[in-house]
Amino acid sequence: MSTKNKQVAVSGVRPTGDLHIGNYLGAIKQFVELQEKYKTYFFIADLHAITEPQDPEKLANQTLDIAALYLACGLDPQKTTLFVQSHMPEHLELAHILGTLTPMGELSRMTQYKEKVEEGKPSNFGLFAYPVLMAADILIYRADAVPVGEDQLQHVELARTLVRKFNSRFGETFKEPKTLLQKEGARIMGLDDPSKKMSKSAASANNYIGIIDSEEEIRRKIKIAVTDSGKEIKFDPKTKPAISNLLTIYSRMADISVQELEKKYADKNYAEFKSDLADALVAALSPIQKKYKELAQNHENVLRILKECSVRAREVAEATMKDVRAKIGLLENAQRFA
Ligand code: ADP
Ligand code: TRP
Repeated sequence: MSTKNKQVAVSGVRPTGDLHIGNYLGAIKQFVELQEKYKTYFFIADLHAITEPQDPEKLANQTLDIAALYLACGLDPQKTTLFVQSHMPEHLELAHILGTLTPMGELSRMTQYKEKVEEGKPSNFGLFAYPVLMAADILIYRADAVPVGEDQLQHVELARTLVRKFNSRFGETFKEPKTLLQKEGARIMGLDDPSKKMSKSAASANNYIGIIDSEEEIRRKIKIAVTDSGKEIKFDPKTKPAISNLLTIYSRMADISVQELEKKYADKNYAEFKSDLADALVAALSPIQKKYKELAQNHENVLRILKECSVRAREVAEATMKDVRAKIGLLENAQRFA
């Protein structure tokens, strides 16, 4: 199928820490699959990251690191437009315009904003306006689909509301994007506490397996991962949350069904199961790590890919903005392309 007829999918990830297998299974692996079917725009949302205080020395490195990891995980710059959000000021221009259509009440209701402020994050205008910038990220590429986790549903809903508002005021311009919710079982839980999701902001690094954790680290973390009482290896999140989580990880990393794994380990103990799970993780992650190391040694190459992709992204973003500016009556700037 030519890219012309393909639907468009857009998503972003904030460069706020080490990526773990929860991010991989919940997001990146699906992005890699999506690039076959959709015309995909994936970006590193550095402007969203700074809505919470970031260490300036770390931010740029993490941005580059995440780009390298995405490429190592299989995003192909021939198929996916992979870029850095702050390289595209058009997103900010559209965000301002969409902001003029966004009632304050709508933003005050956003659960993510309320939760962050309750957690003690500094409340600021950027954090408050976060969903409007996200709507601009999505609409500027005229997205059909937005692959995100459940926590982002409310934000995509705002993007849909803004499409309706814009179109009814200025004429048919945008289309309403739909959410591509992550697959079932995509919620990977912490290794040290299976009642909470695996997270890079967890108190202990034993909570997660980082995509670039060393083999020893992977084996050690799996060895000390909490298990449940009893000794059966079976999938039952209610009575066996820890083992069910490990089964999900094994299944999705090795592409073996949970039922097959249950059969395979029917007569085995936790230690044998864990040792094989560590093998499966090492086998799945080592090719990614090898590629990542090559890319990390050659930052110029990653920067070149980001630059080439942003040229492609800009063509689409500029065309959308041209249309939007005309629709709302902003005087055409003849100098813009001079
Ligand atoms: P974190 O929650 O670790 O800060 P982000 O919010 O940056 O991660 O999420 C990046 C992507 O990874 C999102 O699409 C999110 O839904 C997904 N993701 C994060 N943690 C998990 C997890 N434990 N299981 C599945 N998907 C996850
Ligand atoms: N807010 C998203 C998250 O925290 C990241 C993001 C920014 C995004 N802009 C986006 C996701 C546009 C999808 C589309 O995960």
